[in-house]
Amino acid sequence: MSGIGTKPSAANEGVNIKSKAFCIIGNPIEHSLSPLMQNAAFRHANLNYSYIAFKVPADELQGAVESMRKIRMAGFNVTIPHKVEIVKLLDKLSDEASLAGSVNTVNNENGQLVGYNTDIDGVLEPIEKRISNFNGLNVLILGAGGSCRAALVGLARKKGINTISIFNRDQSKLHRVIRLGFDLNLNCIPFKFEDIVKLSEVSMKSDLIINTTSIGLQGEKSPVITDFIRKDTVVFDIVYKPINTDLIENAKKAGAKIIFGYEMLLSQGYKAFEIWTGMKAPREIMKQALFGIFGEPK
Ligand SMILES: NC(=O)c1ccc[n+]([C@@H]2O[C@H](COP(=O)([O-])OP(=O)(O)OC[C@H]3O[C@@H](n4cnc5c(N)ncnc54)[C@H](OP(=O)(O)O)[C@@H]3O)[C@@H](O)[C@H]2O)c1
Repeated sequence: MSGIGTKPSAANEGVNIKSKAFCIIGNPIEHSLSPLMQNAAFRHANLNYSYIAFKVPADELQGAVESMRKIRMAGFNVTIPHKVEIVKLLDKLSDEASLAGSVNTVNNENGQLVGYNTDIDGVLEPIEKRISNFNGLNVLILGAGGSCRAALVGLARKKGINTISIFNRDQSKLHRVIRLGFDLNLNCIPFKFEDIVKLSEVSMKSDLIINTTSIGLQGEKSPVITDFIRKDTVVFDIVYKPINTDLIENAKKAGAKIIFGYEMLLSQGYKAFEIWTGMKAPREIMKQALFGIFGEPK
């Protein structure tokens, strides 16, 4: 029986032979908005699928993946801190996940666990909405982790980018990312995160600034400040909670164009839904699940 005002759908039928289970694994996981977004999409598409979140600490990843196989989990998302570690536990990788060396979406294809990286589309899609010509573009990236790798693979699809300056604390991680950039034919330049003078200089010259660190998540101040952001620069903070991070506030004060982190969350989620179902993602429904009746923040 369906409740008042609810549309009867396969999702109301309860568990049966057509049911499929999906999940997200990570630690911490409490903040994840993926269950909200994916369950709304499954319901709208009349699929008897459900999606939940599991807290899986780093030292339990292998056991968790083995369990997914045993219970024939149809697919799952992977988040901090497992995106790189999971690579070696899967049966196959898409070409781009293999290039990025990280996976955020796994699909069970006839018992084989296949890894994809939908963060690549997740980063690129919102950028493409603001920038159509990448010729001569100067890019600044903060951080050299999994999301930086996804950003590089995405940007490599675009021709004509001039420089990508990458600032990171851990120098060995930074140099591995520079190596990836080299393999992708991108002109990446390494910088020490602590070199604030250089950061301000590069920031002034950048047409696109992307924060791929977790700075902002706990309300931390961004090292990229208003005085060194140009009005015609596009500033993208991939941190989505809070929506208005310090970097987004600085960019707003500078009059720059901004890209919110939730835009990446949505784009990577659309792509994951499409991999799992073979159907087009109900984008508006997924967006509404995040923002409800109040609509998208500005
Ligand atoms: N919007 C979305 O859909 C979306 C998707 C994926 C990720 N994210 C968010 O993006 C962030 C990064 O994710 P990830 O998977 O790329 O993580 P990751 O692989 O662990 O990389 C994190 C990077 O941030 C740097 N970093 C962390 N804290 C820092 C600090 N206090 N000062 C300077 N650098 C710092 C690290 O530097 P070191 O190398 O020096 O440690 C590393 O380069 C997370 O907050 C995550 O929630 C958002």
